[in-house]
Amino acid sequence: KKKGFIFDLDGVIVDTAKYHYLAWKKIADSLNIEFTHEHNELLKGVSRVRSLDIILELGDVQTTQEQKELWLVQKNEEYLSYLVDMDESEILPGVLPVLNYLKENKQFIALGSASKNARPILEKTGILSYFDAIVDGNDVSNAKPDPEVFLIAAKLLNTSPSEAIVFEDSVAGVQAANIANMTSIGIGDDTILYEAQHNFKDFTFIGTPFLSELIEK
Ligand code: G6P
Ligand code: MG
Repeated sequence: KKKGFIFDLDGVIVDTAKYHYLAWKKIADSLNIEFTHEHNELLKGVSRVRSLDIILELGDVQTTQEQKELWLVQKNEEYLSYLVDMDESEILPGVLPVLNYLKENKQFIALGSASKNARPILEKTGILSYFDAIVDGNDVSNAKPDPEVFLIAAKLLNTSPSEAIVFEDSVAGVQAANIANMTSIGIGDDTILYEAQHNFKDFTFIGTPFLSELIEK
């Protein structure tokens, strides 16, 4: 059977979640807003614009649209500075074996990310060619937990939502997959991602028996 495997990017394929955190932390610190790793969970999977709003809400900061635009540019410049030397070594453990297994078994593979920086990251890490479709922050108007990004990805792969499997490290992304009626697989802490249908600490825990079961189901 041919299923559609949809991967989130940040925190699933590459360990960029830590860079997003550091870049937002710099903005938050400059505004004297307390911004912990726990707060950061709320930002995972969430668009850049919405993330800034969440941080400003945390600090009860009101400001102009112009000022917000400046902070958004500043955050992205800081974030991009961490990506300059990025290469395949930043691909998270276990990801390549899973991608290879899916390719060998002729499965469809898509990216479903909120990031506008997704393509350069796939290029830098050398894995662009694995993807039959790429849907990123430039293609969607509704941020996760809205299922738009995954629904577009499934459509491009020619698979129905019920034949699609989503790998996600964010609460918002797991919720989006569930709302889309797709199989949700949480990657990370299962006490945070408890809404996912399956959960793995990271990809090294996903064996081929599990993958072949997903394909045959
Ligand atoms: C991903 C990350 C978020 C990030 C969003 C937008 O979903 O998990 O932390 O804010 O993408 O990314 P961008 O690279 O466009 O700022
Ligand atoms: Mg993510």
